[in-house]
Amino acid sequence: MEKDYREKSLQYWEGVHEEQDYDRASIRVDDWLEPFDEIIMGAEQPILDLGCGGGNDTLYLLKKGKKVVACDQSERAIRRMRKNFPEITETKCFNMLDGLAFPEDSFEVVIADLSLHYFTEKDTAFIISELQRILIPGGHLLLRVNSVNDVNHGAGQGKEVEPHLYESEAGTLKRFFNESDIRKFFKEYKIDYLKEETMSRYKLEKKLFCVCVRF
Ligand SMILES: C[S@@+](CC[C@H](N)C(=O)[O-])C[C@H]1O[C@@H](n2cnc3c(N)ncnc32)[C@H](O)[C@@H]1O
Repeated sequence: MEKDYREKSLQYWEGVHEEQDYDRASIRVDDWLEPFDEIIMGAEQPILDLGCGGGNDTLYLLKKGKKVVACDQSERAIRRMRKNFPEITETKCFNMLDGLAFPEDSFEVVIADLSLHYFTEKDTAFIISELQRILIPGGHLLLRVNSVNDVNHGAGQGKEVEPHLYESEAGTLKRFFNESDIRKFFKEYKIDYLKEETMSRYKLEKKLFCVCVRF
């Protein structure tokens, strides 16, 4: 990815996380991970929350009694995670564009909730190859990404720099997926679940794809 997009993304997310200095009691959990309960409960190793942001999914996992490793590019997000979740196994601050900072076969389950739709096709493919490296064979990736129908959150708006990838006014990139985009990105792996859903965590409803991939 061009250096400029990378810097703009970091600036943007540091700004968002600075504005939102909430405590644990105000974190909202939604139930999108429920269909994958068996996968989550079966994991013996800590689960990776990739692009953890405010920790909505970390909170869900901790409530289920799971161990969690949380990471994000934003130092502010990571600081808030340590404050709100002192029991967390590990936190790491790194940029996914530099690869995923873990040894191979580190995780049985990785959760990437709204964190894999900010990249060019080349970078997305690289991050997926890194996911394959850090997941055990047969490990699962549970993810949600923007849908092409997510008109309330920018679908089809801004300059299209690649098919379905838009540059926002803030100079950041945002991808909107359709079903065949998802099947193409994960063509080497087994898609066990793929469904367009509506999320109500934000003020305006959001259309996204919920996906479970077995590596
Ligand atoms: C929409 S938020 C989602 C946060 C959380 N997973 C959730 O669902 O509430 C996206 C997060 O991905 C992180 N992120 C975006 N690009 C990243 C990158 N290149 N490397 C690491 N984290 C990144 C952002 O800093 C932000 O915290």
